[in-house]
Amino acid sequence: MARLRIEALSKSFGGTDAVREVSLDIADGEFLVLLGPSGCGKSTLLRMIAGLEDPTSGRILLDGRDITTEPPQRRDLAMVFQSYALYPHLTVAKNIGFPLRARRHSRAAIAERVERVAATLELSPLLDRRPAALSGGQRQRVALARAMVRDPGAFLMDEPLSNLDAKLRSATRAELIGLHRRLGATFLYVTHDQVEAMTMATRIALLNAGAVEQVGTPEELYDRPRSTFVAGFLGSPPMNLFPAVVHSRDGGLRVRADGVDAALPIADRVDDQPVIAGIRPEQLRLDPDGGAVRGRVTMVENLGSEELVHVEVGATTLCARAPRPAGARVGEPIGFRVDPAHVHLFDPDSGLRLTWRAPSDTAAPEPDAARAVPVP
Ligand SMILES: Nc1ncnc2c1ncn2[C@@H]1O[C@H](COP(=O)(O)OP(=O)(O)OP(=O)(O)O)[C@@H](O)[C@H]1O
Ligand SMILES: [Mg+2]
Repeated sequence: MARLRIEALSKSFGGTDAVREVSLDIADGEFLVLLGPSGCGKSTLLRMIAGLEDPTSGRILLDGRDITTEPPQRRDLAMVFQSYALYPHLTVAKNIGFPLRARRHSRAAIAERVERVAATLELSPLLDRRPAALSGGQRQRVALARAMVRDPGAFLMDEPLSNLDAKLRSATRAELIGLHRRLGATFLYVTHDQVEAMTMATRIALLNAGAVEQVGTPEELYDRPRSTFVAGFLGSPPMNLFPAVVHSRDGGLRVRADGVDAALPIADRVDDQPVIAGIRPEQLRLDPDGGAVRGRVTMVENLGSEELVHVEVGATTLCARAPRPAGARVGEPIGFRVDPAHVHLFDPDSGLRLTWRAPSDTAAPEPDAARAVPVP
């Protein structure tokens, strides 16, 4: 059992605020991914939780117990690093058993436990080898086994897959998902790789410059990004974002920009409100009669099963993603239709998502009863 609670945790290095007032509640058995660009404070946050770095302020609670100043070995947490940090002169079995030997368990108890963990991770045939004679993926599993051998309440992992090649990374990803399911332990996992985050996380905490930008399920972050930062971080290629204006026409709202005139699923009246509009590449549906977005093809990228079509629309370039062959030719005009439910709007100043407050007492939205308000 391991429920982690982080309260307004901050860390400054001299003048750098690496982590700024981060608060998170991580339920027992969760797979929480700390995601964000390089330098946003992911490792610093994880190292504070592990006890390898002293917080400047804030608290860390494990199952309700304040562990902010406890030494790492008393925290019931196991850390797995990007560099596996295996002992080169020890066999796989000795590497895995190391934490138990350090705690003076009996030789028989260690052997039994090492064998059990090695079997779980399919390392049994490799127990007598030294790390130099293992592949990257096997070394990674030994590092994991060494973390598992103590049966900790929670695993803290800092980019454990980043040294693996693409194929092995995806295999180990699947292995970690299975392992989490089997162990039922709490996983706190750092990565800057959005594919890892989307596929493994039960929840993602997206960090931006040391602060939490949004916490939610992968679907919540992808479908309802709280800000342009989240919208631009998740998705490959990311959401198209461009300046536009929202205005009323025929009892509904439309979003308009040079080359763009798309309906919004909102009945309201608004006088030319400036916004940042967002449309995901897969939501630009190629349509010869499509009037919502019109432009000229500048480039077509072949991804194998799909194509990325880059389109000059007014002053901006948008990217559409479609099954190959999409039938787009460079230099030619092209049109798309857009499902109104998949147009995102953001405040141009704060970058926060705009949402229309539904009128509280009527089923159908009424004109003038709602206003665009940034939702924090
Ligand atoms: N020991 C340190 N002394 C001074 N500054 C540090 C120290 N450790 C980290 N920093 C700074 O704190 C900020 C956050 O660093 P951190 O390593 O936590 O980022 P990260 O999100 O893990 O990045 P990456 O994805 O590149 O690993 C960075 O600006 C970094 O330069
Ligand atoms: Mg890091």
